[in-house]
Amino acid sequence: MRIEKFQYIREFSQFENREVTIKGWVSNKRDSKGLVFIIMRDGSGFTQCVADAAKLSAEQFEAAKRLTLESSLTLTGTVVKDERQIGGYELQITSLDIIQVADEYPISKKEHGVEFLVDNRHLWLRSKKQWAMMRVRNRVIFAIHNFFQQNDFLQMDAPIFTGNACEGTSTLFETDFYGRPAYLSQSGQLYGEALAMAHGKIYTFGPTFRAEKSKTRRHLSEFWMIEPEMAFYDLDMNMDLIEQFLKAVVKDVTEFCKEELEILERNTAFLENAINLKFPRIHYDDAVAIIRGEKDVDGKNSILTLENDLKEINDKITALQNEITERENKIAGGTLKAGEINFNKNKIDTIKNEIKDLQEKADNIPQWLNSARNFEHGNDFGGSDETVLTRLFACPIMVYNWPTAVKAFYMKRDPNDPRYVKGVDVLAPEGYGEIVGGAEREDNYEMLLERIKHEELPVEAFDWYLDLRKYGTVPHAGFGLGLERMVLWISGATHIREAIPFPRFYGRLEP
Ligand code: 4AD
Ligand code: MG
Repeated sequence: MRIEKFQYIREFSQFENREVTIKGWVSNKRDSKGLVFIIMRDGSGFTQCVADAAKLSAEQFEAAKRLTLESSLTLTGTVVKDERQIGGYELQITSLDIIQVADEYPISKKEHGVEFLVDNRHLWLRSKKQWAMMRVRNRVIFAIHNFFQQNDFLQMDAPIFTGNACEGTSTLFETDFYGRPAYLSQSGQLYGEALAMAHGKIYTFGPTFRAEKSKTRRHLSEFWMIEPEMAFYDLDMNMDLIEQFLKAVVKDVTEFCKEELEILERNTAFLENAINLKFPRIHYDDAVAIIRGEKDVDGKNSILTLENDLKEINDKITALQNEITERENKIAGGTLKAGEINFNKNKIDTIKNEIKDLQEKADNIPQWLNSARNFEHGNDFGGSDETVLTRLFACPIMVYNWPTAVKAFYMKRDPNDPRYVKGVDVLAPEGYGEIVGGAEREDNYEMLLERIKHEELPVEAFDWYLDLRKYGTVPHAGFGLGLERMVLWISGATHIREAIPFPRFYGRLEP
């Protein structure tokens, strides 16, 4: 059987008032007298299609009525402009051909628990928000390649099986490589450095593995990382590039994924800020002072802001609880009509959900306050510290010059103050936390060897890496962007598992 020529929903603007054939699935369906409204999805988009009993044969109209969610079909019809409809068009069906009437679809409109949705990830991907999110991911990837290719970077690939740890030994996945232990790559960086010595400016873009034995909304066990590495770059040049790069990607995605961001109900104010505002560059010492409330940001104090927010949330919860009581009293009063009772009951349910969300926010704050007040200089930032800090800023920030002890062995020590290394973390606003980690690299052979030994890493595994400091060592720098963290922040979703087609994290290997 040959498949006849067909069109895509995305191309509808070229076919106004003309006949098209589309192929896809029923994402939603509503029957009314003599009409069946089908929301079709064809991969390229969603559109409302109308089957009218007056215009179709009885047999075809019956077929339309038989369709279940996710049934597959071919539709032919006329594309009619209608601003009120998704995509701005409607398809008036002239002929309908069922491919399969689907079994009862497990994902319905009602709220499902997250575990259920992740168990059904292979189907959940068809849902509108997930569809939009994967399109954002695709555009982020495209924009990343675009940026680096336009700036004369070479994309080069690092191996996945490696003999050495790049980012500490605690998160390694060990495999058996012909009888020898090998680790799945935690980062392509060390190889990226070798490649930069051959090609100047390169970037790797590959899968990355970290055994993170905890479930957080920011951590995956398998994720994708983009790691540029540049010869003859110092920390400042690195930060300039990071900022330029992130701005370019955000700009591209907001421009080309307008529809997707709308579907995701993304408030794009922070994205606009990321494009337009200069990212503040904050020394680690200052960041610590800000977290502890010893230093204000534009008149805003971390501790006072948190206390104030907690009070506001609690007041809001009290007000909502009062509203519930009022509505319950009205219902109990016995004077309401059935419709009004239902209306109030629905309202109460909505308010209860709102309270649940607020309560969740309120529950976090005492912890944040506690860890902010007691933050010890010299420590790495935890998720809550990042949130406390970034809440005070309207765009991503870059924290640089980190204590040597909390950062990786390859970072260059600040010659003016060797207690610090020339590392930089970019923290996204809105509580999304670290999206980029980078550094100027230690380019001195002795210093690097000393750091490797100090970290008790096996020196033999780093022989080749040390060679780079023997044969024409130069200052160089680079960074790593976590693709899913970037997609998550741009989409404004809450959990990183939605930013990758098939997430792998602690306890999740299927589907
Ligand atoms: O800060 P990280 O560990 O830095 C590196 O791996 C360096 N070798 C990068 C470089 O300089 N070439 O990781 C970089 C980024 C983080 O900022 C974060 O966005 C992401 O990778 N990331 C994760 N994303 C999802 N799940 C995890 N478990 C992640 N761990 C890091
Ligand atoms: Mg990091």
